[in-house]
Amino acid sequence: MSAKQRIVQGLGLATAGALALGLTACGGGEGGDDDGLTTIGFVAVGPEGAWREANEANIQDTFTEDAGYELKYAPATNLDQKSQIDAFTSFVDEGVDVILLSATEATGWEDSLKRAQEAEIPVILLDRGIEPDDTDLYVTRIAPDNIEVSTAVADWAVSAFPDGANYFVLEGPAGVSVVNERNEGFDAVVGGQPSLVKVGAQTANWSTEEAKGVVETVLKSNNNDVQFIFAQNDEMGLGAVQAVQEAGLTPGVDVKIATIDGTKNALTALAAGELSFVAEYNPLFGETTLEVVEQVLNGDDVESSIVVPSATFDSPEAAETALPDRKF
Ligand code: AHR
Repeated sequence: MSAKQRIVQGLGLATAGALALGLTACGGGEGGDDDGLTTIGFVAVGPEGAWREANEANIQDTFTEDAGYELKYAPATNLDQKSQIDAFTSFVDEGVDVILLSATEATGWEDSLKRAQEAEIPVILLDRGIEPDDTDLYVTRIAPDNIEVSTAVADWAVSAFPDGANYFVLEGPAGVSVVNERNEGFDAVVGGQPSLVKVGAQTANWSTEEAKGVVETVLKSNNNDVQFIFAQNDEMGLGAVQAVQEAGLTPGVDVKIATIDGTKNALTALAAGELSFVAEYNPLFGETTLEVVEQVLNGDDVESSIVVPSATFDSPEAAETALPDRKF
């Protein structure tokens, strides 16, 4: 029984308004195949790193046939937005019941989102936001709070460097919403600390190898006079560790490195003293997403932003405690 059939079946219980809303939320799409499964079009990022792998596996492991879903997984081709827009369009034309979108780019989604709206297919953003953030164009965004996460890194940095430091920022790819949000949260705190001096920022595209090369150059051009590196994800932070070591410096002593994500590799490096602070950006929100999809299809009101709780780790002991049960 498709989502729409479930809603019609509930007719005896639903008010007209709720039914109208429910049918709208159900997306009017004909996605509910005669096998009665609710069809989910997942416009995904695809291979990008440990965080993304954990996040997308969790979504796919949650929306199973046993749970009443047919999840159509559409990873981007080489992180290319056009491939995502093409997949999005196909899902609209196919009339899926709900679209999940993790956008490789923040901008350029208006037309696609309006098409889904016209087809009455609800869109839920996962992780990545859109810019401008027009909350009329999607039902909700489910993600940890990037401002909160990057503020935690900044607050740690202020406490870790009471006498100041020269610092460098390894950013994710330009044009990605979470990069802008992480810069915003971090700069709002550190910008008010004149003793924390920014020597530069550069994207390393979430890559360990690229980050290692960037940091090698930064250390050379600053005569190793850099005491802190903020890496906007774990892979880049681990690249910074390698560059610091190859410069003959000791990570955690000469140069402290803070990262975002909280993957096993980062917590292992924190336990070893190679990283100094790790702010989790929890990727495991498949259950939350399923609950929200059910609410949407039942015509319930849903908040425009749903924050996924995330922890922070500020010591080797904290990392050692967390590692045995780490799921990503
Ligand atoms: O959008 C989340 C970011 O994308 C993660 O922090 C990073 O590891 C991933 O590639």
